[in-house]
Amino acid sequence: ARLAILLSGRGSNMLALVEATKTGVLKNLAEVVVVFSNKPDAFGLEAAAAAGCPVASLPSQGRKREAFDAEAAALLQQYQPDLVVLAGYMRILSPAFIQPFAGRILNIHPADTQQHQGLHAYEWAFENQLPETKITVHLVDEGLDTGPILAQQTVDLRGADSLEEVERRGLAVEHKLYARTLAELIEVGAGLAPARPAAP
Ligand code: GRF
Repeated sequence: ARLAILLSGRGSNMLALVEATKTGVLKNLAEVVVVFSNKPDAFGLEAAAAAGCPVASLPSQGRKREAFDAEAAALLQQYQPDLVVLAGYMRILSPAFIQPFAGRILNIHPADTQQHQGLHAYEWAFENQLPETKITVHLVDEGLDTGPILAQQTVDLRGADSLEEVERRGLAVEHKLYARTLAELIEVGAGLAPARPAAP
């Protein structure tokens, strides 16, 4: 499958996915055809280029949402992605973007999307001293973290005494869960082996 990865910042999930296509669960299943950002100076873009990925960007600042989204979708369509993989892409998508890729856009959210949507999910878990949180991979619709859930994995937060520690534990799960969920989706889509159940 051809993956377009979209990011606005650091890009640790992007790097984990690129790695998985080279040596991990996505090997022989997926290739990253473009890493795209709405922030031309995003650190993740640099990291993607350094990892050998094609990169593209289009600044969203000052643009009207529909116009930007239509242009971004047209740009991405040139790469003919099978799946559009949001990885810290800090935008709510309008129909102009969703329509051309309907049902083929995924996002990862660092909380249970039924309990928490939007920014600062790790802060929310830390400040409320939650004993656990749930990383969620879901399909993207026009809402904020509202699309159908594809996979979830619990992160044990007991004893995590700083926000950094909460994030460290959470990101370690994110990086594995996203690649594994994509692999399962692609295998099912290709009519190959049935999806493996997610590890507990
Ligand atoms: C991750 O926590 C992801 O779940 C959320 O945004 C963050 C992006 O981090 N949607 P990174 O850019 O992948 O390092």
